[in-house]
Amino acid sequence: MQSSYAETGQAARILADGGLVVFPTETVYGLGANALDPQAVNRVFVVKGRPQDNPLIVHLADPGQVGRVAAEISPLCQRLLAEFAPGPLTLVLPVRDEIPRSVTAGLDTVAVRIPGHPIAHALLVAVDLPVVAPSANRSGEPSPTTVDMARSSLGDGPDFYLDGGPCEVGLESTVLRVVENEVFILRPGAISESDILSRLPDVTVHAGGAVNGSGGAGHDSRPPSNGATGAVRSPGVRHRHYQPRAKVLLWERTPELARLIPDGERDRERTVVIMPDAASSRPDVHLHVDEVIVRTYTSVEDYARNLYAWFAESDRLGAERILAHFPAAAGIGAAVRDRLSRSSGGAGAGLRDR
Ligand code: TXA
Ligand code: MG
Repeated sequence: MQSSYAETGQAARILADGGLVVFPTETVYGLGANALDPQAVNRVFVVKGRPQDNPLIVHLADPGQVGRVAAEISPLCQRLLAEFAPGPLTLVLPVRDEIPRSVTAGLDTVAVRIPGHPIAHALLVAVDLPVVAPSANRSGEPSPTTVDMARSSLGDGPDFYLDGGPCEVGLESTVLRVVENEVFILRPGAISESDILSRLPDVTVHAGGAVNGSGGAGHDSRPPSNGATGAVRSPGVRHRHYQPRAKVLLWERTPELARLIPDGERDRERTVVIMPDAASSRPDVHLHVDEVIVRTYTSVEDYARNLYAWFAESDRLGAERILAHFPAAAGIGAAVRDRLSRSSGGAGAGLRDR
C-alpha cells in the first residue's frame, strides 16, 4: 500500500536521528540519509556495498536551498534550476566546506538534485536537511522503480521504507556539469540534450556520454578536470552498473534477433525478449528457444519506465539472457541506450558485428 503523508513525518524524524529511509522519487527509489551526518552517510555506503570513491547526490526541497550545500551557483546553473527544478535533474556544483568528504568522495564538487515527487518533496520539507540519496539498490544492480524492488535488494538494511508506487520516469536523473556557457551531460536521463537546447538555445551542450555506436563508455562526457584534487570527472563510470544476473544482449533490427541465438540444437536457455510493440507481431520474429518471455513497449518513455522492472522480473524468473532492443537515441532514448550498454558490459556488446 502506498505511504501516507503522515508517514513522511515519521520518516523525517528517522533521518534527523541518523537513520536510513528508502523513499520514492520521480526517477528511481533513493536510499536517504542526513547529508550533514558522516556516520549516517557511511552507513549508506555499507548498506549499498558502494565503493567509497563514488560520490552521492544531495537532495533538497527547493532551489532556494541549493546554497546550503553549494559554494557557488553560476548564472547558467540558476537558469537550469529555473527551467528544470524540481525534476529529474542533478547539477554538479562547487561544494561548501561543511559537507562531509564522504558525500563527495573527496571531490571539490557536490551533485545536487530537487526531486519533483510529492512524497520526496514532503519528506525533504519535513526534515529540513540536505539528504544524500543514491539509488536504493546494492551497488552494481539495476535501480529500483518500486518499493518491492528496493526491499528485495536492501532487506532490513534501511530503517524505514516509504511507498510511492511505481516511479514515473524509471531511469536515474540527468547529471549535468556546467563550465562557463557549456553544459556537459555526465549521465543522460529524462531531461535530454534537446530539452536543454529548446529551453536555453544560447548554450552549448555536450552529450558525449551517450552511446552512439562509436564505442562511447557511458557517463564520461569530457568536461575540464575537477580541479586541484585531480580526481576523475564522473567517478561512477569505473564501476559495474545496472546489471541483472542474466546476460544482456542488444539488437536494433529484427533480423539481428535470431542471430543472437547460436545455431545448432534447440536452445534451452530461458530468454527474455524486450521489443517495440510494433515488432512483436512480425513474422520474422521467431526464435529457436524453448522458453521465451516477451515484454513489449509502446514508446521510449514506456521502455525507460519498465526497463529495470523487467530486469528484476528476469532475475526472478531465472532467465539466463535478455535480448533487449536498442532504441533510437532521441529524447530519453539516449538514457535507455546508456543503461543498456552498461548493463550489457560495454558499448553495444550485441551490436559488435554490425
Ligand atoms: O535519479 C537519481 O539521481 C537517483 C534518485 C534517488 O535521486 N539517485 C541516483 O544516485 O541515481 P546514484 O548515487 O545511484 O548516482 C549518482 C551519480 C553517480 O554516477 C555519481 O558518480 C554521480 O552521480 N556524481 C555524484 N557526485 C558527483 C560529482 N561531484 N561529480 C560528478 N559526478 C557525481
Ligand atoms: Mg545508482
